[in-house]
Amino acid sequence: MDFFDSHAHLDDEKFEDDRDKLIEDIRKDNIEKVVTAGYSLDTSKKAIEIAKKYDFIYATCGISPNDIPQTEEELWKTLNEMQKIAKENSKVVAIGEIGLDYYWNKDNKELQKKAFIEQIKIANNLNLPIQIHTREAVMDTLEILKQNKAIKNGVFHCCSLNRELVKEGLKLGFYISFAGPITFKNSKNANEIINMIPNDRILIETDSPYLTPEPLRGKRNDPRNVKFMAKKIAEEKGLSIEEIANITYKNACKIFNIK
Ligand code: NI
Repeated sequence: MDFFDSHAHLDDEKFEDDRDKLIEDIRKDNIEKVVTAGYSLDTSKKAIEIAKKYDFIYATCGISPNDIPQTEEELWKTLNEMQKIAKENSKVVAIGEIGLDYYWNKDNKELQKKAFIEQIKIANNLNLPIQIHTREAVMDTLEILKQNKAIKNGVFHCCSLNRELVKEGLKLGFYISFAGPITFKNSKNANEIINMIPNDRILIETDSPYLTPEPLRGKRNDPRNVKFMAKKIAEEKGLSIEEIANITYKNACKIFNIK
C-alpha cells in the first residue's frame, strides 16, 4: 500500500533538527511520494532544494496570499523570480500555494487578487497546475478561477468543508485535497463533503508539520500521518484504506504529471 502526501512543508523549521532522518523514516513507512509546498520565495527555494535531494519528493513554488509583498513593485519582482526558479527545476510540479486569505489579511484584497491571477498566468506559461489556498474568500476565489482559467487545472489544498466551494470547484475541474480537519471531532459536515467528491478527484495531504490529525493532535505532524486521512475517507465512502491509498495516489500522479 503506497501513500501520496500531496501537500507538506518539509522545509519548516520544526523539521530542522531531524529532517534527513525523518525523510528516510517516512520513505520506509509506505509514503511513496510527497509534494513539499512553497508559500514564499524563500520557502519555494527550500522546497526545490529538498526535492532535488530526494527522488520521491516533489516541490511547488508560489507566493501565498499571506506572504505577498506590500507594494506592487515588490510583488512583480518576487513573482518574476518565482517564475524563474520554477521554470529551471524539473521537480516543480505545481504553482502554489496561491490564492486568497481574508481571514488573516483583509486589508490588501486587491493585491491578493492580483498576485493570485498573475500566478495562474505563470502556471499556464509553465504548463503546470495550481495548488490553491483559500480562506474566508470563497466567492472571490471562485470568481477569479472562472475568469482566469488554469489550463492544467489544480487542487484545492486543505479544502475547507464548504459546500459551495467544493461544488463549484469540482465543476471547474479541480481536485479536492483533504488534510487533518476532516478527522477533527468538531468537523460536523466532513462526511457530507467527502461524499460529494467523486473518487477520481480526491487527494490526501498532511499540511505537516501543522494540522495534526486525530488521534495525534498536539504532536508534530509529518507525512506518515496521511494514513489517518485515508482512513477517514475510507470509512465515509465504505471503501478500504488500501483502495483510498491507490485512488489518491493515482489522482495525485495525474494532476502533478508524475510518471
Ligand atoms: Ni500548506
